[in-house]
Amino acid sequence: MRSGKEHGVATETPGQESQQTLSNLMSETRRFEPPADLAASANVTAATFEEADRDSLAFWESTADRLTWARRWDTTLEWNAPFAKWFVGGELNVAYNCVDRHVEAGLGDRVAYYWEGEPEGDSRTITYADLQKEVSRAANALEELGVRKGDRVAVYLPMIPELPITLLACARIGAIHSVVFGGFSSAALKSRIHDADAKVVITADGGYRRGKPSALKPTVDEALEECPGVEHVVVVRRTGQDIAVNDRDIWWHDIVDRQSAEHEPAPHGAEDPLYILYTSGTTGRPKGILHTTGGYLAQTAWTHHAVFDLKPETDVYWCTADIGWVTGHSYIVYGPLANGATSVIYEGTPDTPHKGRFWEIVQKYKVTILYTAPTAIRTFMKWGDDIRAKFDMSSLRVLGSVGEPINPEAYVWYRENIGGSRCPVVDTWWQTETGAIMISPMPGVTAAKPGAAMRPLPGISADVVDDQGNSVPNGGGGFLVVREPWPAMLRTIWGDDQRYIDTYWSRFDGMYFPGDGAKRDEDGDLWLLGRVDDVMLVSGHNISTTEVESALVSHPKVAEAAVVGATDPVTGQAIVAFVILRGSVEESADIATDLRNHVAKTLGPIAKPRQIMVVPELPKTRSGKIMRRLLRDVAENRSLGDVTTLTDDSVMKLISEKMPAAK
Ligand code: WT7
Repeated sequence: MRSGKEHGVATETPGQESQQTLSNLMSETRRFEPPADLAASANVTAATFEEADRDSLAFWESTADRLTWARRWDTTLEWNAPFAKWFVGGELNVAYNCVDRHVEAGLGDRVAYYWEGEPEGDSRTITYADLQKEVSRAANALEELGVRKGDRVAVYLPMIPELPITLLACARIGAIHSVVFGGFSSAALKSRIHDADAKVVITADGGYRRGKPSALKPTVDEALEECPGVEHVVVVRRTGQDIAVNDRDIWWHDIVDRQSAEHEPAPHGAEDPLYILYTSGTTGRPKGILHTTGGYLAQTAWTHHAVFDLKPETDVYWCTADIGWVTGHSYIVYGPLANGATSVIYEGTPDTPHKGRFWEIVQKYKVTILYTAPTAIRTFMKWGDDIRAKFDMSSLRVLGSVGEPINPEAYVWYRENIGGSRCPVVDTWWQTETGAIMISPMPGVTAAKPGAAMRPLPGISADVVDDQGNSVPNGGGGFLVVREPWPAMLRTIWGDDQRYIDTYWSRFDGMYFPGDGAKRDEDGDLWLLGRVDDVMLVSGHNISTTEVESALVSHPKVAEAAVVGATDPVTGQAIVAFVILRGSVEESADIATDLRNHVAKTLGPIAKPRQIMVVPELPKTRSGKIMRRLLRDVAENRSLGDVTTLTDDSVMKLISEKMPAAK
């Protein structure tokens, strides 16, 4: 592990408030050493950290050297803060790097994707040679439709092979893709098509979700009523359901299947745009996060190789995210393919047709690396331990987590029940904006602590600062920042440089501010505490929702918890908790008292919730994040705000009914 002196840990005294609060909150002492055999042949060792500490630009050059360049770059970094250009003058083709070069290296028969549809028995195996042909056909089709380098292509597809194929076809010709998650409404789709000024939309009749076909095309039709700029809509036939066919529509099989399976990949500039991906944030218009070509591919590929210890000859890697999110862009499509990995893609939900579907897939494909989200892990905990016991998961060797802070108990459950206590768990912190993993344990190096993202990756200068922007010492807490540019960083917000500056580079002078709270423990390891707006102020103490939630989940009866601060006449804000009990647990009269005492014992009396509600479900966005804003509405007895981004809005009705004040 690194020395602990890196990145100028300063000696300034942090704000007293954050010091006081955070010192009494963390008492996690469990540590899991890397398995000896994994450490012995790990892709990354302590030497990699030392190398990057000595010369980070040389380190980033070595990551770019893992790619195949049509023209080598002249300048590694041009930093006109906060605007970065990486590998300036270099030229490469992303699709060539992800597909063709592996075929040329004799690996055409290697499986790129095991695709598993939601209906059982509906699966496809796609080799790198297959992918090369499919991507070439799709690229030829896009060109026939008039798509040229720099044009924007909106993509609204279920998790079917045509989704990665479309992204690679765009990358191949230099068109900029803008994927809109298939669960979003027509209004969301329309605003994104407008903002990016997309010329073509790629969609499907529908996809399978929860055991039945779920339509997509009608949503596109509705969105396009007010999108005159869209010239063509290409429709994949997936479910065969009835759809309206309009003038602009053309079936994927009609235009793609008849194309030549050869397509010359032109080199593109390292800084040419690769894609736009919208992130909703908590307020205002969605932001079109812009990623470019060379630095993005170098960093996603290297981090995928490093953080998951990927051995492409033998590993079977499965990231359960939807390609509609950045996790899917970076760690289902670009990173894994650039590394020549074999991946699993699954179309549907984890409970279809039964709650063991994930483990059945792990067993079927002998998955060795699994990357999923805390929300999924807590759902599996809730379903009970006996479900996964029916499947052979001995192939697994590395587990990953992403999307929100993972509660220590969920981490330990994941490690023991899914990983058989032998697999390291990497808790990876990053964002749509960072493009690639920034903070994470390394499976062959780090003695990981449950719930901690641990240390910045080699080359990443992440730090924790107080509200004046001074580094906090070990044991302190404050705001996460990144001090130096990194290759996969967003380049701007599409069409709005000023908003890019204001959102990310204005809170602290010269530093990137991701919007997350964090603390650095006595050993110098990092704990992410969620968005800074998820901090409660109780009787003058800053308490993070994450820490109270983790304390609740550490009680044997609790599967999942969401905590909010509600206005309180006495304490300013009071803690209100919503909990879901584990599968076999009955709700008893004294459960609330038990849990309140448990939190007091774990975190201290100041963190004791005023109120604890046992609920059947929690409101979540489609990317699995808890919508605390709505819970705050309930806790403060207000009518509910906007519920349109919820996966299931009946959840809020169930919760409101349980709240005594709201009855
Ligand atoms: C926000 C970014 C990165 C892909 C998925 C989410 C939270 C993400 C962790 C983690 C604690 C995490 C942060 C971050 N987050 N991973 N391992 N520990 N928090 O991408 O939708 O852009 O969300 O997710 O708050 O800022 P995103």
